[in-house]
Amino acid sequence: MDGVVRLQRTFVMVKPDGVQRGLVGAIISRLEAKGLRLAGAKFILIDRALAERHYGEHRAKPFFEGLVSFITSGPVLAMVWEGDDAVAQVRRLMGGTDPKQAAPGTIRGDFGLDIQFNVVHGSDAPETAEREIGLFFRPDEIVTYEKAMEAWVSPRH
Ligand code: RTP
Ligand code: MG
Repeated sequence: MDGVVRLQRTFVMVKPDGVQRGLVGAIISRLEAKGLRLAGAKFILIDRALAERHYGEHRAKPFFEGLVSFITSGPVLAMVWEGDDAVAQVRRLMGGTDPKQAAPGTIRGDFGLDIQFNVVHGSDAPETAEREIGLFFRPDEIVTYEKAMEAWVSPRH
């Protein structure tokens, strides 16, 4: 990296399999330990309309129906996380889409075996993050605050 600080927000979701398997705490712990900051959270059942909007880019893909069924099959924890380069950093912590190929040490690499049951979602670009945050959160549901430890994580903030 170039040392430039890019304070970003990203949308992260523990998928129904992650909730059912009791991985919510482990996933939050990894994001916290990285030095990212939780800025919003809600525990919800996604309805079909929201699922289709959220995954709209995949509408024509063969896995779309299965993906919508899966993501609406049980509660999810939808979250906003903030920090320097947060979008890309969360994607690195998550690992590749297919847990069988995802690197050990990543969330998907450590916790999954199936490409659909891949435990976690994270926005793939800053513009996507803004769109996804807007689908799930009203502006007043996102909390702005500082944490004392941040001076020890991103000193150039
Ligand atoms: P996500 O959006 O859930 O964070 O996952 P991603 O960016 O890593 O992957 P993406 O290409 O956006 O795919 C969205 C989700 O669709 C399922 N998928 N299934 N059967 C398949 O070939 C296939 N490909 C993708 C995965 O659950 C993936 O997370
Ligand atoms: Mg994606």
